[in-house]
Amino acid sequence: MTAPARRVSSRLAAIAPSATLAVDSKAKALKAAGRPVIGFGAGEPDFPTPDYIVEAAVAAAREPRNHRYTPAGGLPELKEAIAAKTLRDSGYEIDPASVLVTNGGKQAVFQAFAAIVDPGDEVLLPAPYWTTYPEAIALAGGTPVEVFAGADQDYLVTVEQLEAARTENTKALLFCSPSNPTGAVYSPEQTKAIGEWALEHGIWVITDEIYEHLLYDGAEFSPIVRLVPELADQTIVLNGVAKTFAMTGWRVGWMISPADVTKAASNFQSHLTSNVANVSQRAAIAALTGPLDAVYEMREAFDRRRRTMVSMLREIDGVVCPTPRGAFYAYPSVEGLIGHTIRGREISSSADLASVILDEAEVAVVPGEAFGPSGFMRLSYALGDDDLAEGVGRIQSLLAE
Ligand SMILES: Cc1ncc(COP(=O)(O)O)c(C=O)c1O
Repeated sequence: MTAPARRVSSRLAAIAPSATLAVDSKAKALKAAGRPVIGFGAGEPDFPTPDYIVEAAVAAAREPRNHRYTPAGGLPELKEAIAAKTLRDSGYEIDPASVLVTNGGKQAVFQAFAAIVDPGDEVLLPAPYWTTYPEAIALAGGTPVEVFAGADQDYLVTVEQLEAARTENTKALLFCSPSNPTGAVYSPEQTKAIGEWALEHGIWVITDEIYEHLLYDGAEFSPIVRLVPELADQTIVLNGVAKTFAMTGWRVGWMISPADVTKAASNFQSHLTSNVANVSQRAAIAALTGPLDAVYEMREAFDRRRRTMVSMLREIDGVVCPTPRGAFYAYPSVEGLIGHTIRGREISSSADLASVILDEAEVAVVPGEAFGPSGFMRLSYALGDDDLAEGVGRIQSLLAE
């Protein structure tokens, strides 16, 4: 008997669905069914996109030149704006030709790995990590090598840990600061030490800077290329407008890389998706060339919610919550609750806990399993103050039983 033909390719069959989107859609479905669910799952600001950005898009939609194909790698004006913004926010100059405009930061993540990773290559992945990275690495044929830093080290990996995980197959390091999912922020000194280590060993750095403006408690954004300029020739910077300007739905991101990598990734994109929607690109130009006041206002709200969330989580027995200093996530360790029984259900993992919290308190959180080891939960604080207090309050009451 011949074996049945494989329907789905092994490469795609190996991809897990995005756990964060899955939690979010389950919460939204329950809400649509009339349940009073509060969702801490989604990684997106609850604010509308600032008006001046929306107005630029409305004007762009009326212009026929935006109704046509444009260069696959991005509008020249947007690449110029990204170069100017990089100088303003990161403090170093780039050639606009080194920019590739992508459909959100996510496409930049996939294209970055596709551009530099070959089968057999290892990519060091500090864990907890954003759920998309290992999929992008594996799809490029690479092997993610997790380097874990727990709550006891504020989720920050050290050079010693990276060095211990390095082999002759190590091609790249994924670096994300401020971090999704932990909210951890590397200091300039830590960033510089990691950059110097990568430079010394010829390891590429893929640095995801999408949360660069969302910093609290005096934390500083540390662009690795500014701290170690020689690293530019082996670094891919990933960024986008989604988180900074409340523009998750507009789908504009970018990568900045050495000429050969940008060319390879642009060729790839020219077959895959071509140009990002022109109206969105014009909106992104308005965002990047405009003032940052609206961003600072949103950041103030996130900061207030962050403090409320962290202090409420810390009141729960068995929960340890390091202070997140960036992005908009709290990442408490819930290891102290593993082994407990809640409403007759035994909790043997953070996935069990998240599931009990959803069923019994009607609150959606993402379990640590989506980002690496079990034993943690990610809660986004990018939602309204009242919902936030109500949602964490419900978790407190459930876990106090
Ligand atoms: C760390 C990180 N990088 C990149 C992205 C991609 O964002 P987008 O594709 O919406 O631009 C996200 C979104 O959740 C993220 O958290």
